[in-house]
Amino acid sequence: MIKSVVLAAGKGSRLKSNNAKVLHRIFDKPILAWVLDSLAEVDQDEIIVVCGHQAEKVRSFLHAYPVTVVDQTVQMGTGHALMCVQDELDDFEGTVLVVNGDSPLIRSETLNDMLNYHEQREHQMTLLTSQVNCADGYGRIVRRNNTIIGIKEDKDCSEAEKTIKEVNAGVYCFGWQFIKEGLSKLKSNNAQEEFYLTDLVAWAYSQGLSIGNFILQNPNEALGINSRTDLAAVSRLKNQEALEALMDAGVTIIDTNSTVISPEVDIGPDTVIYPGTYIHRRVTIGSNCSIGPNTSIFGPAEIGSHSTVIQSHINRSSIGEHCNIGPFAHIRDGSDVYNKARVGCFVEVKNSTMGEASSAAHLSYLGDAQIKSNVNIGAGTITANYNSFTGEKSTTVICQGASTGANSVLVAPITIHEGASVAAGSVVTQDIPAQMLGIARPRQEIRGLPVAKKVS
Ligand code: UD1
Ligand code: CA
Repeated sequence: MIKSVVLAAGKGSRLKSNNAKVLHRIFDKPILAWVLDSLAEVDQDEIIVVCGHQAEKVRSFLHAYPVTVVDQTVQMGTGHALMCVQDELDDFEGTVLVVNGDSPLIRSETLNDMLNYHEQREHQMTLLTSQVNCADGYGRIVRRNNTIIGIKEDKDCSEAEKTIKEVNAGVYCFGWQFIKEGLSKLKSNNAQEEFYLTDLVAWAYSQGLSIGNFILQNPNEALGINSRTDLAAVSRLKNQEALEALMDAGVTIIDTNSTVISPEVDIGPDTVIYPGTYIHRRVTIGSNCSIGPNTSIFGPAEIGSHSTVIQSHINRSSIGEHCNIGPFAHIRDGSDVYNKARVGCFVEVKNSTMGEASSAAHLSYLGDAQIKSNVNIGAGTITANYNSFTGEKSTTVICQGASTGANSVLVAPITIHEGASVAAGSVVTQDIPAQMLGIARPRQEIRGLPVAKKVS
């Protein structure tokens, strides 16, 4: 039997944040969620999460997960955190897998391989270790004649111990019936005055227990998040992973340094992503598209094949195939742009549909509008969808083949029927019947200039 324990109670003071450390996000997903998602692939009987700092918030986040939550009301170190689950594991005789809740890069394959190693070698304790270039901040694996005799925390290391490059990755397998006794032996007489979980190693050695170590192939997996710098480093690694997967799948990314794409994004082959592009949350992009430069797309969103998006922001909307978006378009709040449509320069589309082959090429606001196919929206057309007296929003319907002239205002609710036209400069307050022209502007007058201004 296997039970897992996630240590997630720490304050994370080095982040200098008002929010619990484990709820800080990497690509919109809390650090703790990355850890729990990896753990979900381990065949265990129970997951226990130790909460403490901002326990309320962490508990409410954990509602979505099948885990047992245990409180560590005062945070006195990782050893103390494990003491808090002692009651929960009182009669347990199997393996306890302990994982630091601040290590979001740990992979499920690693956890499973480590558990297999622990069980096959019949160790009573197995540590996950890694060889790193810079060991600052990590507990060092101390060996004598190649045998592990303890872990020394960074702040407690002698000058000689500081040079050790083999570090503790913060994941442990414990044969619980052998190890649990050691918890009561932990002391807090160290630099941080905390009960270190890592002191169990020296205790186990003193008891003659067998201690193994499973070596991480990729030291990045050991990265724990203690600071904003760590948060940025881990985000960068996740981004790199996502970009490499996309490039392997046939996507061209011109500048990987200035492109940020979250792991949930799916992009078809032969699409080119130009510099300064940020694609966030669940977004699907077809093949042969051209996205960017300087474009942000926040999901859920979809872009069909053969579409172009330049210097624009798309938020929770869907774009069809062969569409042409931007530069400087803003498409948001559940808008649907159908195939071959054009949303051009300085055009904002909110909660609207743009029908097939319709075009709004310049300077427009289209809000709560149902624009059918083959419609031409003239430059400067505005849907006046908001009544500031009642606070209500109303719909504008522009039927197939209709067109609006430059600088027209359509005061909603209103319908421009099939094939109808709005004359330039009109403020339209009544529906325009099919195939008719609506003119709603003062008639032009031609008057003589005052005598003094006439050119002689
Ligand atoms: C810890 C290890 C260190 C290892 C490193 C790997 C100890 C003493 N040190 O150091 O050897 O190299 O992780 O990343 O374990 N926590 C609690 N309750 C507490 C204190 C911490 O639940 O009272 C949780 C934190 O929320 C965090 C995890 O335990 O998720 C690790 O704590 P942290 O303070 O980050 O330990 P490190 O100093 O990084
Ligand atoms: Ca840490």
